[in-house]
Amino acid sequence: MTWQIRLAERRDISELLAIEQIQFPEPWTRGMLLDEVTNIETRRYTVVVEDGKILGYLGVMFVMDELHINTIGVLPDFEGKGIAAALMDDAWRDAKERNIERATLEVAVSNKRAQDLYYRYGFKPVGIRKNYYDKIGEDALVLWADLPVEDKP
Ligand SMILES: CC(C)(COP(=O)(O)OP(=O)(O)OC[C@H]1O[C@@H](n2cnc3c(N)ncnc32)[C@H](O)[C@@H]1OP(=O)(O)O)[C@@H](O)C(=O)NCCC(=O)NCCS
Repeated sequence: MTWQIRLAERRDISELLAIEQIQFPEPWTRGMLLDEVTNIETRRYTVVVEDGKILGYLGVMFVMDELHINTIGVLPDFEGKGIAAALMDDAWRDAKERNIERATLEVAVSNKRAQDLYYRYGFKPVGIRKNYYDKIGEDALVLWADLPVEDKP
């Protein structure tokens, strides 16, 4: 493993867009990604980079003491190598420093691969949002996880 994790920057948008378009049935637009990556007050976007090429990314949003996972994607040729797990580990470390107590996300009911990843991080299903992915007519599972917070009594 020679890749590294760093914060995403404006110059990364085209590569993130390419991953979105390959990996998501309802990909975000360039404008949406730009808004997300540059909104550093409430967002934290990280990328895995190898030899200057972006292999995967994770975007989270902070809402009070909650972490919302907005997106995660890995280039198809690089799936199954622990890239998503490395991004999640990094986000969990950062969340701990921010005293974040809970995390949530939505995931398509058919996306078992992503669900398996999330379950390894303590997420549990708490409900369903009907027709959340309206273009493809698919429901989303709503997952929540309690984060270990160091200073908890
Ligand atoms: C879901 C997704 C982000 C996972 O990314 P990934 O980098 O392949 O995930 P990881 O490699 O960290 O973990 C996935 C698997 O690889 C395995 N793995 C982890 N480290 C590994 C390593 N060093 N070598 C080989 N396999 C490894 C994991 O055990 C896991 O096994 P599984 O296939 O039985 O689940 C990726 O498949 C993707 O981009 N999907 C499309 C977009 C998407 O659905 N995003 C989620 C929307 S909610």
